[in-house]
Amino acid sequence: MAAEMAIVKPIVGKFGCSSTTTAPTPGVVILGGRRNPRTSNAAMKIRMSSAATDTSAPPPPRPAKKAAKQGINETLLTPRFYTTDFDEMETLFNTEINKNLNQAEFEALLQEFKTDYNQTHFVRNKEFKEAADKLQGPLRQIFVEFLERSCTAEFSGFLLYKELGRRLKKTNPVVAEIFSLMSRDEARHAGFLNKGLSDFNLALDLGFLTKARKYTFFKPKFIFYATYLSEKIGYWRYITIYRHLKANPEYQCYPIFKYFENWCQDENRHGDFFSALMKAQPQFLNDWKAKLWARFFCLSVYVTMYLNDCQRTAFYEGIGLNTKEFDMHVIIETNRTTARIFPAVPDVENPEFKMRLDRMVEINQKLVAAGEGEDIALVKNLKRIPLVAALASELLATYLMKPIESGSVDIAEFEPQLVY
Ligand SMILES: [Fe+2]
Ligand SMILES: [Fe+2]
Repeated sequence: MAAEMAIVKPIVGKFGCSSTTTAPTPGVVILGGRRNPRTSNAAMKIRMSSAATDTSAPPPPRPAKKAAKQGINETLLTPRFYTTDFDEMETLFNTEINKNLNQAEFEALLQEFKTDYNQTHFVRNKEFKEAADKLQGPLRQIFVEFLERSCTAEFSGFLLYKELGRRLKKTNPVVAEIFSLMSRDEARHAGFLNKGLSDFNLALDLGFLTKARKYTFFKPKFIFYATYLSEKIGYWRYITIYRHLKANPEYQCYPIFKYFENWCQDENRHGDFFSALMKAQPQFLNDWKAKLWARFFCLSVYVTMYLNDCQRTAFYEGIGLNTKEFDMHVIIETNRTTARIFPAVPDVENPEFKMRLDRMVEINQKLVAAGEGEDIALVKNLKRIPLVAALASELLATYLMKPIESGSVDIAEFEPQLVY
């Protein structure tokens, strides 16, 4: 999972924009909660394999007309695809240039990934379809949206890791192979979620998505921060849902959650790999700029998740969770994990942090409402201006809260381990 972050890259002028255009403008997934009723039952073919051996080439594009039939509702909070400066990546992982690269550690990690603990984990059974058929009404729709968003996020990771695996092959074959094996994992995750969508007679057209979607560019340093956080927050989200449903089986309304326990260990391993990568690039962790960026990325990821989830409380309540409590648990745990490697993190356990998050939720709700009214575009935009300013000022105030000094490149020893 590598895409649940959007605040850091605002889309100017696109707040809540809704469109049905064809490529290359926005994406093809319905992610903002409004589905075109005419197309909601259209079953589309899955164009992506979950097998490791099939990840060497991108899935072929689908004819634009199919995906374009879907409504597009790309918002500030939509999961994104990322690209980076691959030449700089090659320099960073060149063992001749970078003497901090601990190849023995990467070799050990590679063995860990080759073990492929979840090779036989993602096997479906007939429970899936039966459970999907029982899900009706608003919860059904919100489930579909959950599967779509999760699939997009997993697929985003697949694309980025696959390309990194390809580009680093000559410079650092060990690191390159780890990236390829991580893309294997993400392909599996995305494929499994897409199979879940087939229970609802839907599928994301991942081939089309690959070609048509806009990619957000991040310099390598920012890819490391963002991806590390995405993996760790993904881990904490999955394990928290898994544990909750294990303790409260009456809310187990779709079997995909039963797979989260092993699944999240993949995300945890991915995060640990990025931790090792950052240790090998101490210049990204040990100065005042790194501290500012680390806090910025943490805040972006946490706020994005909180705002997203608060727009979808029906889903979390549907599986018996309190959305805000769930999110705060995930944020706090992710932050504690992140503090082991990032040089500074926000003080998320300070009550002021949650208070400000809740204010942002209120402002965001008004922003969404402003976009949904009957007004003409100009009026909508005028209404949004003060709200965007209020959101920005709340974000800034949260960013300026006294942070926690954390992390240490020296003590952040990597130890592959299962975390439960
Ligand atoms: Fe994943
Ligand atoms: Fe992952």
